[in-house]
Amino acid sequence: MSTPSTTERYSYKARWFHWVMAGLIVLAYILILSRSQFAKGTDLRTLVVQTHFWMGIVVLIMAFFRVAERRRHTPPGITPPLERVLRPAATLSHYALYAFLFVQPLLGLFTVLLERGALPIPLTSLSIPAPFDISKDTAENLEHLHVLLGTIFYYVIGLHVVAAIWHHFVRKDNTVRRMV
Ligand code: HEM
Ligand code: HEM
Repeated sequence: MSTPSTTERYSYKARWFHWVMAGLIVLAYILILSRSQFAKGTDLRTLVVQTHFWMGIVVLIMAFFRVAERRRHTPPGITPPLERVLRPAATLSHYALYAFLFVQPLLGLFTVLLERGALPIPLTSLSIPAPFDISKDTAENLEHLHVLLGTIFYYVIGLHVVAAIWHHFVRKDNTVRRMV
């Protein structure tokens, strides 16, 4: 596959990371929200919940490579340039989204490790042991934070998508075209 020009768009890798990770995040949400469809204790529910864990872990691993790629390639500017007042809002929301890619999976991971003492591997009886002792209280606090952040980011991600639609259809600039 040829590498498209990076002068008008995000780099190929940046675009790949963006869309693959967006897909994984949406899937992580769908999986955890659909767990109530399956009876407690069933294999299917266990699989759904554990797949949620691993979707999140893949997001966490990819986040490091994504940030490295972002540091290597500064994305091209928006044409026509964004009004000065809107720039801090765009920058802030992007920082928040990047932070989410690390903080949310880490909160989930520490919740599981502190609660169960190990991270289960789906479809096997294997698990990765925690390098520290179980602490149910801390696990509970981290889980609350994980659920809270997950809820807040419905809105942050929602706003991000609405902003993309606004750029494309109302402002008619190249914001979305740079990311596809
Ligand atoms: C992109 C990453 C992730 C997102 C967006 C995410 C999102 C969420 C959300 C929204 C909930 C609450 C669901 C509800 O309202 O009932 C949740 C629950 C949970 N998540 Fe995650 N999560 C992510 C990664 C992880 C990871 C990596 C782990 C563990 C390795 C994890 C472990 C958990 C646990 C233990 C719960 C509570 C499940 C339960 O009550 O049965 N999450 N997650
Ligand atoms: C399907 C929904 C989505 C659409 C339509 C979308 C669209 C876009 C567009 C057009 C940009 C370029 C914005 C600009 O340069 O000003 C962008 C950037 C970005 N998106 Fe999304 N996005 C979506 C989902 C997500 C999700 C789920 C996340 C992660 C939680 C995410 C994280 C980011 C980040 C961090 C940037 C900044 C990239 C940078 O400048 O380094 N996006 N998105």
